Amino acid sequence: MNHADKKMDTIIAYAKRKGFVFPSSEIYDGFAGAYDYGPHGVELAKAIKAHWWKDVVLTKHNVYGLDAAIVMNPKVWVASGHVGGFSDPLADCKTCQTRIRVDKELEKLGVTADEKMSEEDINKLFDEHRETITCHKCGSKDFTPARAFNLLVQSNLGDFSTDGSNPVYLRGETCQGIYVNFKNVVDSLHPKIPFGVGQIGKAFRNEISPRQFLFRTREFEQMEMQYFTRPNEDTAAYEVWKQDRWASYIRMGIAEENLRWNQHDNLVFYAADAWDIEYKFPDYGFDEVEGFHMRTTYDLTQHSEHSGKDLSFNDNGEKFIPHVVETSAGVGRLFTAVLAEAYDEEELEGGDSRVVLRFAPHLAPVQVAILPLMKKDGLAEAAQEIFADLAGEIRTTYDESGSVGKRYRRQDEIGTPFCVTYDYDSKEDGTVTVRDRDSMAQERVAIKNLKRYLQDKM
Ligand code: GAP
Repeated sequence: MNHADKKMDTIIAYAKRKGFVFPSSEIYDGFAGAYDYGPHGVELAKAIKAHWWKDVVLTKHNVYGLDAAIVMNPKVWVASGHVGGFSDPLADCKTCQTRIRVDKELEKLGVTADEKMSEEDINKLFDEHRETITCHKCGSKDFTPARAFNLLVQSNLGDFSTDGSNPVYLRGETCQGIYVNFKNVVDSLHPKIPFGVGQIGKAFRNEISPRQFLFRTREFEQMEMQYFTRPNEDTAAYEVWKQDRWASYIRMGIAEENLRWNQHDNLVFYAADAWDIEYKFPDYGFDEVEGFHMRTTYDLTQHSEHSGKDLSFNDNGEKFIPHVVETSAGVGRLFTAVLAEAYDEEELEGGDSRVVLRFAPHLAPVQVAILPLMKKDGLAEAAQEIFADLAGEIRTTYDESGSVGKRYRRQDEIGTPFCVTYDYDSKEDGTVTVRDRDSMAQERVAIKNLKRYLQDKM
């Protein structure tokens, strides 16, 4: 089907029905801004993260991994500037007290606005368009002026005061864990500059209007890499990383025409330049999946000053604060992009039709399904032996219920690229049928070569 014909509502309902994504705490009427990955979703998300980790960390000789704690000393967030400047512009309806995000309301009117604008600038635009902005709940046009609402989420973890006066923050971006470990990485690994540190982990933001499925949630996962360079080498590194990451999207099976670059006009407080890779989400249109920021010396300087620790780099006697190039992708947004890209409804010959998820084989939640033609005559046992041989190395499932045709459809529906059928000929000649999800073509493959054959296809 054409990408233009895809509908997010259809894809979201499908994702739930097929065990990819469930609304959080659904039996208690849900919880806004949080989602759960189901049995197939968790595999897809893990595969997306493995793809990122391989491209950003494992295949780069000078990028190291890290997994920092979600909660940190609250001074980290004062130093980073998040306590003072990480906010959305909100206004309250004076009639029913409903809160609106003013930048989003302005955007809906086609006015260029975003959360990084100063309070003064956004209120000027707000005042110009007040007549056309109405409260979603009561229809009033009477709002307070926009004011900055901090997005950091507080927790009482470790706060044993009676009045909760020593809160900590759940991290608002994972990269602060990288900055505060900069010295530890340098002292333990003695890397040459430039080098990078990558991390995947949860982040939390008090988004006032979580929306669009996994696109804007309050709990989400980021894949971030901070690349530390000499002062005059960040611009070149920035370009290299942008190209490198773009190529990574193509390897995930995302069509180039559904991707584009967007440079930010208004910069967040830590960035000297910012570009996004945007994906053309069905219905939502092009929107950010990954951000690239030139963070200069901002974060290391702030943490040096606030912690009193010297975070400069000593390069053969020459000391300087490294510049930072950042790439930051959201797992949920990438997951949505990969799912939307893969979703296909196909008319088949003979009036039949199927829904098929055309995941790149290395991302598919189930990569191979083992299907005995019949349960009897030892076919099931032999097929289970093949399952056992593959399962530790390839994401494999086993299915013996229903006709083979129905079993093929079930696997198409969750995007399994290969189905292996063990039949009566297999008993005689030691071969199986391998059926390709996309072309539906079948070929006979010797069982002894099957694992290598499938691994080559991944
Ligand atoms: N460290 C830089 C940083 O956090 P960001 O542009 O605020 O930059 C980076 O976020 C990425 O994290 C975004 O491109 C997006 O994929 C993801 N992200 C941010 N806020 C999100 C939210 N509320 N829900 C889901 N993903 C989000």
